[in-house]
Amino acid sequence: MRTVGISPYRALYSRSLDRHHSRGTLWFTPHSHGLRPDAYYRGHQRAAQDALELADDKWGKIFGEIFPAAQDRLAGWLGSARPRDIAFAGSTHELVTRVLSNYSGVARAPGEPIRILTSDQEFHSATRQLKRLAELPSVQVDVVPLTPFETFTERVKQSVRQNHPQVALLSHVFFQSGRVLPDLAGLVQSLSVYCERVIIDGYHAVGAFPVDELLPEVIDKVYYVGGGYKYLMAGEGMCYMSLPKGCQDRPVNTGWMAHFESLATGVTAPVPYSEGGMRYAGATFDPAAFYRFLAIWQALDEAAIDIATIHQHVIGLQTYFLEQLDAKPETPLRRSQLAHALTEPRANFLCFHTDQAQAVHDRLKERNIRTDYRGDFLRIGFGLYHDEMDVDQLVSALS
Ligand SMILES: Cc1ncc(COP(=O)(O)O)c(C=O)c1O
Repeated sequence: MRTVGISPYRALYSRSLDRHHSRGTLWFTPHSHGLRPDAYYRGHQRAAQDALELADDKWGKIFGEIFPAAQDRLAGWLGSARPRDIAFAGSTHELVTRVLSNYSGVARAPGEPIRILTSDQEFHSATRQLKRLAELPSVQVDVVPLTPFETFTERVKQSVRQNHPQVALLSHVFFQSGRVLPDLAGLVQSLSVYCERVIIDGYHAVGAFPVDELLPEVIDKVYYVGGGYKYLMAGEGMCYMSLPKGCQDRPVNTGWMAHFESLATGVTAPVPYSEGGMRYAGATFDPAAFYRFLAIWQALDEAAIDIATIHQHVIGLQTYFLEQLDAKPETPLRRSQLAHALTEPRANFLCFHTDQAQAVHDRLKERNIRTDYRGDFLRIGFGLYHDEMDVDQLVSALS
């Protein structure tokens, strides 16, 4: 599908667009901090209103209405029949470290380290954390290089068969290059033979394209994490993790919200945990992001827009952009530099592998066109608020 001319979806972003267009700035960054819809503001106001009007009773609403509504929506996207098994936290780092905390003080056998399998292109939160853990004598991290991508899953399976890790942590869509893990179900099946816990980072998948059909054989087996900062447009503070079916974890890193009843009774021994996602809760948090999330997606519902609509719009713009590049050989970006395939499922950003990544980014920024780069990878993201006229400006700046 192609959206010609002015996008009908722009009205949803009027506050941001008015501001940024008056400054002449274009943000090709929905894969990080893109523009937020007007409903972001309404949701935030509602959070403040509840704080003022309900005082401490606001938590009853948050846990009784806001969280379940957010869980229901996420479970629908993930194709999960277990919305209450979705945990929340302020960052994916918090959730992943909480999963890893199940191994605190645990040795596989005397002198044998805990083994964690991962790739060399996970997001910095995970990479930094795992590198630090690998400095401990009790932890060994097996890092499988993502390239050559064609053999990646085979090499992961080989590493699992050889090293028998307890934990695997892999992205569904890799943040740097936009590559999508092929045959996630097959890979998770192989990982689960040896791994006690498989963590899949879906931050660049959920909200970018419909994942429910990809996950039915996966979602019951894995810890699937993601967050609200990028494609879900809710901003900071709303990360989630779908737990595997039947999860009875007692994470060592635990806060008071993981068992409310203890507030009245005191913490008994052994330390008790709530059922479902709440067992992975931490402590007092800012709930505003959840209000923003619900307000935004309600506004999109009312406009009959879902994730598939957004993805189709983005694919139309990506196709148009690439055609324009093909027609203008003087631009510094070429289709042949794409780091990922153009097949489906596909990330919502185009990623060009070029040693000019920073230079192109910097030159575009001088012209008020925002993209971003990670090393030699230039990322150009498209969203609901873009249309072909924005792409024309981008191409003209590139030429
Ligand atoms: C793949 C991926 N995972 C996770 C995150 C976020 O991590 P955290 O919530 O720990 O800041 C990002 C980027 O913000 C990401 O690109």
